Amino acid sequence: MVLKAELHCHVEGAASPALVARKAAKYGADVSAFIVDGRFVWHDFTSFLRAYDQASALFRTQEDYADLTEDYLLALSAQDAIYSEVFISTDHAISAGLSPRAYIEGLAEGMRRAKAATGIESRMIATGLRHKGPDAVMEAARYIAENPHPLVTGFGMAGDERMHHPRDFARAFDVARDAGLGITVHAGELSGWESVANALDTIRPSRIGHGVRAIENPDLVRRLAEEQILLECCPGSNISLQVYADFPSHPFPALARAGVPVTLNSDDPPYFHTDLAREYDIAAAFFGCDDGALAEITRTALKAAYVDETTRNTLI
Ligand code: HPA
Ligand code: ZN
Repeated sequence: MVLKAELHCHVEGAASPALVARKAAKYGADVSAFIVDGRFVWHDFTSFLRAYDQASALFRTQEDYADLTEDYLLALSAQDAIYSEVFISTDHAISAGLSPRAYIEGLAEGMRRAKAATGIESRMIATGLRHKGPDAVMEAARYIAENPHPLVTGFGMAGDERMHHPRDFARAFDVARDAGLGITVHAGELSGWESVANALDTIRPSRIGHGVRAIENPDLVRRLAEEQILLECCPGSNISLQVYADFPSHPFPALARAGVPVTLNSDDPPYFHTDLAREYDIAAAFFGCDDGALAEITRTALKAAYVDETTRNTLI
Protein backbone atom coordinates (compact mmCIF):
# COMPACT_ATOMS: atom_id res chain seq x y z
CA MET A 1 0.00 0.00 0.00
CA VAL A 2 1.42 3.38 -1.07
CA LEU A 3 0.40 6.45 0.91
CA LYS A 4 -0.77 9.25 -1.33
CA ALA A 5 -1.02 13.05 -1.28
CA GLU A 6 -2.85 15.39 -3.61
CA LEU A 7 -1.95 19.05 -4.31
CA HIS A 8 -4.33 19.82 -7.17
CA CYS A 9 -8.04 19.13 -6.91
CA HIS A 10 -10.78 21.72 -7.45
CA VAL A 11 -13.37 21.26 -4.74
CA GLU A 12 -16.31 22.15 -6.98
CA GLY A 13 -14.85 19.76 -9.56
CA ALA A 14 -14.78 16.95 -7.00
CA ALA A 15 -18.58 16.86 -6.65
CA SER A 16 -19.84 13.51 -7.91
CA PRO A 17 -22.80 13.43 -10.33
CA ALA A 18 -24.77 11.66 -7.57
CA LEU A 19 -24.10 14.47 -5.06
CA VAL A 20 -24.86 17.14 -7.69
CA ALA A 21 -28.13 15.33 -8.50
CA ARG A 22 -29.05 15.33 -4.78
CA LYS A 23 -28.45 19.08 -4.58
CA ALA A 24 -30.47 19.56 -7.81
CA ALA A 25 -33.39 17.69 -6.23
CA LYS A 26 -33.05 19.89 -3.11
CA TYR A 27 -33.19 23.08 -5.21
CA GLY A 28 -35.61 21.88 -7.93
CA ALA A 29 -33.00 22.31 -10.68
CA ASP A 30 -32.73 20.46 -13.99
CA VAL A 31 -29.34 18.85 -14.62
CA SER A 32 -30.20 16.95 -17.81
CA ALA A 33 -28.02 19.33 -19.89
CA PHE A 34 -24.83 18.14 -18.19
CA ILE A 35 -25.55 14.86 -16.36
CA VAL A 36 -26.61 11.93 -18.54
CA ASP A 37 -26.80 8.34 -17.27
CA GLY A 38 -25.07 9.39 -14.04
CA ARG A 39 -22.06 10.93 -15.81
CA PHE A 40 -21.04 14.51 -16.51
CA VAL A 41 -21.19 15.26 -20.24
CA TRP A 42 -19.01 17.82 -22.04
CA HIS A 43 -16.90 17.70 -25.20
CA ASP A 44 -14.13 20.31 -24.94
CA PHE A 45 -12.60 22.69 -22.38
CA THR A 46 -15.26 25.37 -22.91
CA SER A 47 -18.18 22.95 -22.44
CA PHE A 48 -16.33 21.35 -19.51
CA LEU A 49 -16.14 24.75 -17.79
CA ARG A 50 -19.85 25.34 -18.53
CA ALA A 51 -20.90 21.99 -17.00
CA TYR A 52 -18.57 22.69 -14.07
CA ASP A 53 -20.15 26.13 -13.47
CA GLN A 54 -23.70 24.73 -13.70
CA ALA A 55 -22.94 21.94 -11.23
CA SER A 56 -21.13 24.37 -8.88
CA ALA A 57 -24.20 26.64 -8.86
CA LEU A 58 -26.07 23.87 -6.96
CA PHE A 59 -23.88 24.29 -3.87
CA ARG A 60 -25.52 27.23 -2.15
CA THR A 61 -25.14 26.95 1.60
CA GLN A 62 -22.39 26.48 4.15
CA GLU A 63 -23.74 22.96 4.80
CA ASP A 64 -23.72 22.11 1.06
CA TYR A 65 -19.98 22.88 1.04
CA ALA A 66 -19.33 21.00 4.29
CA ASP A 67 -21.07 18.00 2.71
CA LEU A 68 -19.09 18.23 -0.52
CA THR A 69 -15.72 18.60 1.22
CA GLU A 70 -16.39 15.77 3.67
CA ASP A 71 -17.60 13.50 0.83
CA TYR A 72 -14.44 14.16 -1.26
CA LEU A 73 -11.98 13.79 1.65
CA LEU A 74 -13.55 10.58 3.00
CA ALA A 75 -13.34 9.04 -0.49
CA LEU A 76 -9.72 10.24 -0.79
CA SER A 77 -8.78 8.79 2.59
CA ALA A 78 -10.22 5.43 1.47
CA GLN A 79 -7.61 5.60 -1.34
CA ASP A 80 -4.82 5.80 1.28
CA ALA A 81 -4.35 9.55 0.92
CA ILE A 82 -3.04 11.35 3.99
CA TYR A 83 -3.05 14.93 2.68
CA SER A 84 -4.96 17.06 0.20
CA GLU A 85 -4.89 20.66 -0.97
CA VAL A 86 -8.12 21.75 -2.60
CA PHE A 87 -8.58 24.71 -4.89
CA ILE A 88 -11.50 26.81 -3.77
CA SER A 89 -13.19 29.64 -5.64
CA THR A 90 -14.88 32.51 -3.84
CA ASP A 91 -16.23 33.55 -7.28
CA HIS A 92 -18.27 30.35 -7.48
CA ALA A 93 -19.62 30.92 -3.96
CA ILE A 94 -20.63 34.51 -4.74
CA SER A 95 -22.34 33.39 -7.99
CA ALA A 96 -24.33 30.86 -5.96
CA GLY A 97 -25.42 33.58 -3.49
CA LEU A 98 -23.15 32.43 -0.66
CA SER A 99 -20.79 34.79 1.19
CA PRO A 100 -17.08 33.93 0.92
CA ARG A 101 -17.00 33.72 4.75
CA ALA A 102 -19.80 31.10 4.91
CA TYR A 103 -18.23 29.27 1.96
CA ILE A 104 -14.84 28.95 3.67
CA GLU A 105 -16.46 28.04 7.01
CA GLY A 106 -18.42 25.26 5.24
CA LEU A 107 -15.27 23.95 3.58
CA ALA A 108 -13.39 24.09 6.89
CA GLU A 109 -16.20 22.20 8.63
CA GLY A 110 -16.03 19.44 5.99
CA MET A 111 -12.25 19.27 6.54
CA ARG A 112 -12.67 19.02 10.32
CA ARG A 113 -15.25 16.22 9.96
CA ALA A 114 -13.06 14.22 7.57
CA LYS A 115 -10.01 14.67 9.81
CA ALA A 116 -11.97 13.54 12.88
CA ALA A 117 -13.21 10.45 11.01
CA THR A 118 -10.00 9.38 9.23
CA GLY A 119 -7.06 11.59 10.24
CA ILE A 120 -6.69 13.05 6.72
CA GLU A 121 -5.05 16.51 6.72
CA SER A 122 -6.15 19.12 4.20
CA ARG A 123 -5.71 22.77 3.32
CA MET A 124 -7.34 25.22 0.89
CA ILE A 125 -5.81 27.18 -1.98
CA ALA A 126 -7.99 30.16 -2.87
CA THR A 127 -8.13 30.78 -6.62
CA GLY A 128 -9.03 33.52 -9.01
CA LEU A 129 -10.50 32.66 -12.40
CA ARG A 130 -8.34 33.79 -15.30
CA HIS A 131 -11.20 34.18 -17.77
CA LYS A 132 -12.87 36.65 -15.40
CA GLY A 133 -9.91 39.00 -15.89
CA PRO A 134 -7.30 40.77 -13.71
CA ASP A 135 -9.74 42.85 -11.64
CA ALA A 136 -11.73 39.77 -10.54
CA VAL A 137 -8.52 37.89 -9.67
CA MET A 138 -7.29 40.90 -7.69
CA GLU A 139 -10.60 40.95 -5.82
CA ALA A 140 -10.24 37.25 -4.93
CA ALA A 141 -6.64 37.85 -3.75
CA ARG A 142 -7.62 40.90 -1.67
CA TYR A 143 -10.49 39.03 -0.02
CA ILE A 144 -8.27 36.20 1.08
CA ALA A 145 -5.41 38.51 2.15
CA GLU A 146 -7.79 40.61 4.25
CA ASN A 147 -9.68 37.63 5.71
CA PRO A 148 -7.02 35.10 6.66
CA HIS A 149 -8.13 31.60 7.67
CA PRO A 150 -5.73 29.05 9.18
CA LEU A 151 -6.75 26.38 6.65
CA VAL A 152 -6.32 28.68 3.61
CA THR A 153 -2.61 28.48 2.91
CA GLY A 154 -2.22 29.20 -0.78
CA PHE A 155 -3.42 31.32 -3.68
CA GLY A 156 -3.70 30.19 -7.29
CA MET A 157 -5.39 30.84 -10.59
CA ALA A 158 -7.49 28.43 -12.64
CA GLY A 159 -9.81 28.95 -15.58
CA ASP A 160 -9.16 29.51 -19.26
CA GLU A 161 -5.41 29.80 -19.79
CA ARG A 162 -5.91 31.03 -23.36
CA MET A 163 -7.13 34.39 -22.07
CA HIS A 164 -4.94 37.30 -20.85
CA HIS A 165 -1.18 37.34 -20.16
CA PRO A 166 0.22 36.17 -16.80
CA ARG A 167 1.74 39.65 -16.24
CA ASP A 168 -1.82 41.03 -16.01
CA PHE A 169 -2.22 39.07 -12.77
CA ALA A 170 1.19 39.74 -11.19
CA ARG A 171 -0.14 42.37 -8.76
CA ALA A 172 -2.91 40.08 -7.51
CA PHE A 173 -0.32 37.39 -6.81
CA ASP A 174 1.87 39.96 -5.02
CA VAL A 175 -1.05 40.73 -2.68
CA ALA A 176 -1.44 37.00 -1.94
CA ARG A 177 2.32 36.47 -1.50
CA ASP A 178 2.58 39.45 0.87
CA ALA A 179 -0.19 37.83 2.94
CA GLY A 180 2.08 34.80 3.39
CA LEU A 181 0.25 32.47 1.01
CA GLY A 182 1.95 29.83 -1.16
CA ILE A 183 1.73 30.64 -4.87
CA THR A 184 0.71 28.29 -7.68
CA VAL A 185 -0.80 29.00 -11.07
CA HIS A 186 -2.33 26.89 -13.85
CA ALA A 187 -0.11 27.09 -16.95
CA GLY A 188 1.11 24.81 -19.72
CA GLU A 189 -2.13 22.84 -20.00
CA LEU A 190 -4.18 24.44 -22.81
CA SER A 191 -1.31 26.68 -23.94
CA GLY A 192 2.30 25.82 -24.74
CA TRP A 193 5.69 26.27 -23.04
CA GLU A 194 5.66 30.09 -23.36
CA SER A 195 2.69 30.18 -20.99
CA VAL A 196 4.77 28.40 -18.32
CA ALA A 197 7.82 30.63 -18.90
CA ASN A 198 5.68 33.79 -18.73
CA ALA A 199 4.02 32.58 -15.53
CA LEU A 200 7.42 31.91 -13.93
CA ASP A 201 8.77 35.31 -14.98
CA THR A 202 5.82 37.40 -13.86
CA ILE A 203 3.96 35.48 -11.13
CA ARG A 204 6.96 33.73 -9.48
CA PRO A 205 5.10 30.63 -8.24
CA SER A 206 6.74 27.78 -6.30
CA ARG A 207 4.47 25.34 -8.13
CA ILE A 208 2.69 25.19 -11.48
CA GLY A 209 -0.71 23.59 -12.04
CA HIS A 210 -0.11 21.14 -14.91
CA GLY A 211 2.97 22.76 -16.51
CA VAL A 212 3.47 19.65 -18.62
CA ARG A 213 3.80 21.55 -21.89
CA ALA A 214 7.12 22.90 -20.60
CA ILE A 215 8.41 19.72 -22.26
CA GLU A 216 8.22 21.64 -25.58
CA ASN A 217 11.33 23.64 -24.60
CA PRO A 218 14.42 21.84 -23.19
CA ASP A 219 15.83 25.10 -21.71
CA LEU A 220 12.61 25.60 -19.78
CA VAL A 221 12.71 22.00 -18.52
CA ARG A 222 16.26 22.65 -17.27
CA ARG A 223 15.06 25.85 -15.55
CA LEU A 224 12.23 24.00 -13.77
CA ALA A 225 14.72 21.38 -12.56
CA GLU A 226 17.29 23.99 -11.46
CA GLU A 227 14.74 26.13 -9.64
CA GLN A 228 12.91 23.02 -8.35
CA ILE A 229 9.53 24.33 -9.45
CA LEU A 230 7.04 21.56 -8.73
CA LEU A 231 4.54 20.51 -11.39
CA GLU A 232 1.10 19.45 -10.19
CA CYS A 233 0.58 16.89 -12.95
CA CYS A 234 -2.90 15.56 -13.70
CA PRO A 235 -2.43 12.87 -16.38
CA GLY A 236 -6.04 11.61 -16.41
CA SER A 237 -7.29 15.18 -16.85
CA ASN A 238 -4.79 15.79 -19.67
CA ILE A 239 -5.93 12.73 -21.64
CA SER A 240 -9.60 13.52 -21.03
CA LEU A 241 -9.12 17.11 -22.31
CA GLN A 242 -6.97 15.77 -25.18
CA VAL A 243 -3.85 17.72 -24.21
CA TYR A 244 -2.12 14.41 -25.14
CA ALA A 245 -3.50 11.58 -27.25
CA ASP A 246 -2.76 8.80 -24.77
CA PHE A 247 -0.80 7.97 -21.60
CA PRO A 248 2.31 6.67 -23.44
CA SER A 249 2.60 10.16 -25.05
CA HIS A 250 2.40 11.99 -21.70
CA PRO A 251 5.64 13.81 -20.70
CA PHE A 252 5.49 12.85 -16.99
CA PRO A 253 8.39 10.31 -17.22
CA ALA A 254 10.57 12.67 -19.30
CA LEU A 255 10.02 15.54 -16.86
CA ALA A 256 10.81 13.27 -13.91
CA ARG A 257 14.00 12.02 -15.61
CA ALA A 258 15.06 15.65 -16.19
CA GLY A 259 14.89 16.27 -12.43
CA VAL A 260 11.69 18.33 -12.38
CA PRO A 261 9.67 17.65 -9.18
CA VAL A 262 6.45 16.02 -10.43
CA THR A 263 3.35 14.91 -8.55
CA LEU A 264 0.10 13.07 -9.33
CA ASN A 265 -3.29 14.71 -8.95
CA SER A 266 -6.94 14.19 -9.94
CA ASP A 267 -7.90 17.83 -10.90
CA ASP A 268 -11.70 17.39 -11.27
CA PRO A 269 -12.06 13.66 -10.63
CA PRO A 270 -15.63 12.75 -11.74
CA TYR A 271 -15.43 15.00 -14.83
CA PHE A 272 -12.32 13.14 -15.99
CA HIS A 273 -13.52 9.74 -14.74
CA THR A 274 -10.57 9.48 -12.42
CA ASP A 275 -9.49 9.69 -8.79
CA LEU A 276 -6.14 9.86 -7.03
CA ALA A 277 -5.78 6.06 -6.82
CA ARG A 278 -6.28 5.82 -10.59
CA GLU A 279 -3.61 8.49 -11.18
CA TYR A 280 -1.13 6.43 -9.14
CA ASP A 281 -2.23 3.31 -11.10
CA ILE A 282 -1.64 5.18 -14.38
CA ALA A 283 1.88 6.11 -13.23
CA ALA A 284 2.55 2.45 -12.40
CA ALA A 285 1.13 1.17 -15.69
CA PHE A 286 2.47 3.78 -18.14
CA PHE A 287 5.23 5.83 -16.49
CA GLY A 288 7.36 2.97 -15.11
CA CYS A 289 6.80 3.91 -11.45
CA ASP A 290 7.24 1.08 -8.94
CA ASP A 291 5.99 1.42 -5.34
CA GLY A 292 9.25 3.10 -4.29
CA ALA A 293 8.89 5.73 -7.02
CA LEU A 294 5.24 6.29 -6.14
CA ALA A 295 6.11 6.77 -2.46
CA GLU A 296 8.78 9.27 -3.54
CA ILE A 297 6.12 11.19 -5.54
CA THR A 298 4.03 11.43 -2.35
CA ARG A 299 7.07 12.74 -0.44
CA THR A 300 7.74 15.28 -3.20
CA ALA A 301 4.16 16.53 -2.80
CA LEU A 302 4.38 16.76 0.98
CA LYS A 303 7.69 18.67 0.82
CA ALA A 304 6.12 21.30 -1.48
CA ALA A 305 2.77 21.43 0.33
CA TYR A 306 1.56 24.78 1.66
CA VAL A 307 1.37 23.54 5.22
CA ASP A 308 3.05 24.48 8.51
CA GLU A 309 6.27 22.62 9.35
CA THR A 310 4.83 20.92 12.45
CA THR A 311 2.06 19.30 10.40
CA ARG A 312 4.44 18.52 7.53
CA ASN A 313 6.73 16.65 9.92
CA THR A 314 3.85 14.45 11.07
CA LEU A 315 3.15 13.51 7.43
CA ILE A 316 6.59 12.88 5.90
N1 HPA B 1 -7.90 23.81 -15.90
C1 HPA B 1 -8.21 25.09 -15.70
N2 HPA B 1 -9.16 25.49 -14.89
C2 HPA B 1 -9.87 24.58 -14.23
C3 HPA B 1 -9.60 23.24 -14.38
C4 HPA B 1 -8.56 22.83 -15.26
O1 HPA B 1 -8.27 21.63 -15.45
N3 HPA B 1 -10.47 22.60 -13.57
C5 HPA B 1 -11.23 23.54 -12.95
N4 HPA B 1 -10.85 24.74 -13.35
ZN1 ZN C 1 -6.82 22.32 -12.28
